[in-house]
Amino acid sequence: MKIFADTGMLDEIKQAASWGILDGVTTNPSLIKKAVEGLKEAGKDISMKEYIEEILKTAGKGKPVSLEVVSTTEDEMVAEARKLFETFNRVAENVVVKIPVNPTTSDDSAHTYDGLRAIKKLSSQGIPINTTLIMNPTQALLAAKAGATYVSPFAGRIDDYLRRRAGLTFEKGDYFDVMGLVDDETGEIVDDNGMLSGVHLVETIADIFNIYSIESEIIGASVRNVRQAVELALTGCHIATIPFKVIEEMMNHPKTMEGVVKFGEDTVPEYRAIFG
Ligand code: E4P
Repeated sequence: MKIFADTGMLDEIKQAASWGILDGVTTNPSLIKKAVEGLKEAGKDISMKEYIEEILKTAGKGKPVSLEVVSTTEDEMVAEARKLFETFNRVAENVVVKIPVNPTTSDDSAHTYDGLRAIKKLSSQGIPINTTLIMNPTQALLAAKAGATYVSPFAGRIDDYLRRRAGLTFEKGDYFDVMGLVDDETGEIVDDNGMLSGVHLVETIADIFNIYSIESEIIGASVRNVRQAVELALTGCHIATIPFKVIEEMMNHPKTMEGVVKFGEDTVPEYRAIFG
């Protein structure tokens, strides 16, 4: 499974790249907002264009970086996608444009299919598309058929949705069982049209894509914790895009630290002398 850093923070991307584990980066307007706020707080003055160019260079050639459109109609999304690609792809040839699978907002249901239309148009022009905000298997299937290079099911947000429907209170990083939950009051399994959890959603999409040899790559997105990252790896999804904090936590185990300390204590001078 490839690992993308789900962040707009240049420092985090630099660190992950320095560890040799970075296969790509995903951003979205909320992540860019967080990064810009951080820069402002630190008193740093950098243009958005230069900042994005730095992200692209840091990720490096062949390491896809997703940049998202902000409009919700076909024509606007196509124009923005072209703008992003034309402006930035020359930097490291790694720009992928994120298009919402269904850009409908509460008051513009006329745009339900604009995402698919934009994906079809842009993909046929050679602009790689990462379809974002995928919340069910059919959205993934349709996005792949329209030509998307990547589909991004949002595992964590489905878990949030199911937990909220069951009236649970939880912290963002809390683990949610891949097998879902049973409603205490009704005794019924809480599901979203058959989906028991976010990981179950990703697994279902992976199964469908395998059956039909669909080439679009699946990015397990909206990752909340290390255990979920492990479960995503077991689904066979091609990529997980993981927040930096969770990537850091993936390295920790108390027994590893204990082992390092013990090996240090046990090192005899004769052995240490080999190193001069
Ligand atoms: C990545 O492509 C998504 O935008 C991101 O994983 C969403 O994560 P969130 O649900 O934690 O905001």
